[in-house]
Amino acid sequence: MFKQQPFGTIADQEIILYTLENKNGMIVRLTNFGGIVTSIHLPDRDGKPRDVVLGFDSLHSYIDEHPYFGCIVGRYANRIAHGQFTLDGVSYQLAKNNGENHLHGGPEGFDKKVWQAESFQHGDDAGVILEYLSPDGEEGYPGNLKVRVVYSLTGENELKIDYTAECDAPTPVNLTHHSYFNLNGQGEGDILGHELMINADRYTPVDEGLIPTGVLQDLTGTPMDFRSPKTIGQDFDQVPGGYDHNFVLNKKGGLSLAARLKSTVTGIVMDVLTTQPGLQFYSGNFLDGSLAGKEGKVYQKNYGLCLETQHFPDSPNQPSFPDVILRPGEKFHHQTIYKFNIEAY
Ligand code: GLA
Repeated sequence: MFKQQPFGTIADQEIILYTLENKNGMIVRLTNFGGIVTSIHLPDRDGKPRDVVLGFDSLHSYIDEHPYFGCIVGRYANRIAHGQFTLDGVSYQLAKNNGENHLHGGPEGFDKKVWQAESFQHGDDAGVILEYLSPDGEEGYPGNLKVRVVYSLTGENELKIDYTAECDAPTPVNLTHHSYFNLNGQGEGDILGHELMINADRYTPVDEGLIPTGVLQDLTGTPMDFRSPKTIGQDFDQVPGGYDHNFVLNKKGGLSLAARLKSTVTGIVMDVLTTQPGLQFYSGNFLDGSLAGKEGKVYQKNYGLCLETQHFPDSPNQPSFPDVILRPGEKFHHQTIYKFNIEAY
């Protein structure tokens, strides 16, 4: 079932807030500004509704500066060193918005765009199709890129995100979703007590600017080892600055389980399934209490975490990483599912 209501306007364009609801009482709200998921409510094991993502109550807070709450990130999610890369012998300079580096598609990335939107209902699934045409040269990227993101909420408590893109000139593409999850409920303390499993034997170590060194490092015996579930807090002190790392997912192709996150307080469990090769686990290290979130909640350090399915950071400059160049005639296609379950007492 779905509903839509006005959420405001940007330069005379109408911004809509969509509400998707399934038969289990799970409710997802999202908007065509930035493809932002503004809330995910579901009943915990006592039947009490919890909103498990950080965000804002009003559109203007999303237009103002914020750390990518709930949005679609593109054209290239994560960092590109010095905002530079060479493609087919031509060098490109992208906007720098993270020190010397390019982050999340630049200052006016896909998270700041108004997307064309159309809602649908297919049996138990309700969703919204979002489309955006990124023009040649936007933030320094070559070629026009036609992007389509389909969000759907299924009867099995899955928030499915299906990404496709096509171009008219070769260009790097890396799309992700940037919700900050807190399975205790938004504003209800930090996520250090959450249990996390990440299905990865290796990760990509980074330099001070969070640019990968190019090595695919075995994580055995390091604080990065989440192969057996452990609390995020367990080895947290050994990770300077907190977790903000790309994990090399163990996979043989297709959609597979990347991570499982669990709150023992609410019994809410979230599985992350993806076709993508990498997962950025970011523990909300830059949250600092300066943002007033939904219902007046204040988001302190580590009050939410992101599990961003993606290609590896800085891939256009890393020959050993999987290829991220989309060429005319090819279709970029990835899928990620955030699936929620409740564990009884
Ligand atoms: C990503 C990055 C982080 C940070 C956040 C946004 O997850 O990896 O370093 O930039 O986005 O604040």
